[in-house]
Amino acid sequence: MAEIIIVKTEAEAGAIYGRCVADLIKAKPDAVLGLATGSSPLAAYQALAGIVKEEHIDVSQVRGFALDEYLGLPLDHPESYHSTIYRTVVEPLGLDPAKVHVPGDVLNGAPLEDGDKIAAAGPAYDAAIEAAGGIDVQILGIGTDGHVGFNEPGSSLASGTRVKTLAEQTRIDNARFFDDDIDQVPTHCITQGIGTILKARHLVLLAFGAGKAEAIEETVEGGVSAFCPASALQLHPHATIIIDEEAASRLRHKDYYRYAYAHKPAWQGI
Ligand code: F6R
Repeated sequence: MAEIIIVKTEAEAGAIYGRCVADLIKAKPDAVLGLATGSSPLAAYQALAGIVKEEHIDVSQVRGFALDEYLGLPLDHPESYHSTIYRTVVEPLGLDPAKVHVPGDVLNGAPLEDGDKIAAAGPAYDAAIEAAGGIDVQILGIGTDGHVGFNEPGSSLASGTRVKTLAEQTRIDNARFFDDDIDQVPTHCITQGIGTILKARHLVLLAFGAGKAEAIEETVEGGVSAFCPASALQLHPHATIIIDEEAASRLRHKDYYRYAYAHKPAWQGI
């Protein structure tokens, strides 16, 4: 069972992540961070960047691996996850861009038809994560349909990094980044698999707003099922789910989660 932390604001959630990762980097200067795009992690990156600056933490050795990337977008497209991770993480934190990887980097807009190249990219990415010693802390958002990374409902819970077809709902949800025009949202992606994600040593999932309430209910209190890929977090020995009141609104055991967090010994961290 994951630890559930219910917060009032995204900033509060961000501060919890920021403290955790800043302490990790102090203890392990070449820590390996698992990175996500989307709205949910933004306050967390901001908080971490603030602490790094304030406490003069050396991040020059920090390494990063993003969760996913659209297929068919060149790296320099403003909405490619390569560009997004650069803008939201690498730049504000001052990371070395050469140490931060995104699954589509080797593809750089290769068309879907380029099967051999695209098929090889997934296993190569998993091998690179492994060669780096594995991911220390993986930050995750969750889709309204329960996806993590771009593992849509029905994804194998043992999957490695591979190509997936985006669900229509995900394309609708992400059209906001593409002038509200769903036709501009790519149809395919390359994403870390659920099996890849579960290998990270610590998972931190962030979710805010009523739109995430159903997916969070299924993730936390539903059965483990490929139909809610995020429910695989129930199988992880160290998963932390940080949500606001709205995202927590459908949870039956919220009082217990609150009680447990309020009585947690400070030395345990998250
Ligand atoms: C992004 C990713 C996705 C998002 C999810 C939620 O790299 O892997 O799973 O985390 O779609 O997106 P937001 O945070 O924008 O609601």
